[in-house]
Amino acid sequence: MPLTCNIDPIAHADHTDITQGLSQNPASISPKYFYDQQGSRLFEAITQLPEYYPTRTENALMQQHASDIARSVGTGRTLIELGAGSCQKARTLCQLVQPACFVGVDISADYLQDAVAALSDDLPWLDARAVGGDMTQGVQLPADIPRTGRLVFYPGSSIGNFDPPHALALLAHMRELIDDDGGLLIGIDLPKDVTVLEAAYDDAAGVTAEFNRNVLRHVNRLIGSDFDVDQWQHRAFFNADASRIEMHLEALANAQVRWPGGGRAFEQGERIHTENSYKYPLPVFTDMLARAGFAQAEAWTDERGWFAVVHARP
Ligand code: AVI
Repeated sequence: MPLTCNIDPIAHADHTDITQGLSQNPASISPKYFYDQQGSRLFEAITQLPEYYPTRTENALMQQHASDIARSVGTGRTLIELGAGSCQKARTLCQLVQPACFVGVDISADYLQDAVAALSDDLPWLDARAVGGDMTQGVQLPADIPRTGRLVFYPGSSIGNFDPPHALALLAHMRELIDDDGGLLIGIDLPKDVTVLEAAYDDAAGVTAEFNRNVLRHVNRLIGSDFDVDQWQHRAFFNADASRIEMHLEALANAQVRWPGGGRAFEQGERIHTENSYKYPLPVFTDMLARAGFAQAEAWTDERGWFAVVHARP
């Protein structure tokens, strides 16, 4: 039976975080606000898109190197997945490494609770738990989660959604979550042809555009703003200098947006920066891991060199 911490992180979200971001020039909204129920569903749809290669490449890598990964990681661990979402990846990994306990952590607590319940139904031998928590603020795990033999699992290249100093701080936090016998299994998206990258974040079916625009609906609910979602278009491009995909929402017309206690005007063409997705060369990333306290790293990459799965240890 999964134990759920009934924390709704969104209910505790600092509204000033959103209004401050909106009031800056250029305006920004943190990508963590993508993931309301609808946003989580849209993200799952993105992972199925022909253009969105990261999920399928990572899955194929995990399958192709399953026995090496299992040998490197070991069995009977306490598996802690950060940003667990639908727990699809955890399901495969649990079958592979037979952990003693699984802890899914996600900001979208309701969605996670359903996913962990489904995982529990499918793998009745597994002690599976859901913990609502905001990765960006550092995860507080319940005191009864065993400390020894922990494996933090952070797939999907989500580390790329943080700016490098923040990514380093998060990796250091993951190091704090484990003892010296623990490890981190992490997926990273590698630099590649710009046309492949840009198509992955601006798909023909418009699912990523809808995912991006949905953040405005979520923000409207969270802070009581009156964004007219239809007046904003999706923009995604690769910034080569920073080695990152950037996503923005661009005003189709002049707009006055109000929220209780504030508001701002946007001119036609003005953008709200909603996401970065960094693409790290493997040596740059392993150097970052070392600086975060993970001295050892074993990596698996696909034939095209598009993605890497890394097992890092102290
Ligand atoms: C969750 N994260 C790794 C995704 C990415 O690829 O950066 C989020 C995403 N944004 C647009 N498409 C997918």
